[in-house]
Amino acid sequence: MKNYIIAIDGFSSCGKSTVAKDLAKKLAIAYVDTGAMYRSVTLYALKHGFITDCKFDEQAIISSLNDIDITFTYEASTGTNTTFLNGQNVEKEIRGIQVSQNVSKVSAIQAVRAKLVDYQRNMGQKTSLVMDGRDIGTVVFPNADLKIFMTARDEVRAQRRYDEMKQKGETVDFETILTNVKERDLIDTTRKESPLRKADDAVLLDNSDITKEEQFDFIINELKKRHII
Ligand code: DC
Repeated sequence: MKNYIIAIDGFSSCGKSTVAKDLAKKLAIAYVDTGAMYRSVTLYALKHGFITDCKFDEQAIISSLNDIDITFTYEASTGTNTTFLNGQNVEKEIRGIQVSQNVSKVSAIQAVRAKLVDYQRNMGQKTSLVMDGRDIGTVVFPNADLKIFMTARDEVRAQRRYDEMKQKGETVDFETILTNVKERDLIDTTRKESPLRKADDAVLLDNSDITKEEQFDFIINELKKRHII
């Protein structure tokens, strides 16, 4: 059977990675979390002092791109994805609020996008995969076999992120999360480089009021309709 690509794009915290992981597990294909790549570059910039409270040194970030190596391990049986930045497991750190507050600005840098998009396209040449992000259906894989564009109401998304962080034991405040969700939406949709938008041929999926199971079945049905599975 030929390799196929499922592109899942959409707003932050609307459950893209959850459904992408479930699909990867069910279909026994690879899962690639492109947000983790932008988050890793952001973490690198924070750790090296390129981003501080009063500074955002875009040039330093661009100059350091060749020193940044991002790799993943994916355990299909458990659906566990682990991100490594220069060989170090950063899976937990890249989900923290400091990275979340700066990642949209880092992902708006053209040179950062060029490097990561190149890497993402290479991954798709070798194997079937489900990839989630903001520009997968529009830029990375415009010929993806199935494109899903996910959304949900702001408050619903903030609540999900809040619950997720609480569960991980992080001290968080709902209003801060909601503000971050809204700010990221604004930057992601209005940036010059590959803004977040629904591809014309993507299927819209608003999951504010449906269960995870309904959402999963909806996508499986779209795959079947296209004879992908
Ligand atoms: O999916 P996420 O919330 O982990 O993504 C983090 C940020 O990375 C998000 O605010 C926008 C950016 N991003 C992007 O610009 N393009 C992608 N393909 C994936 C993420």
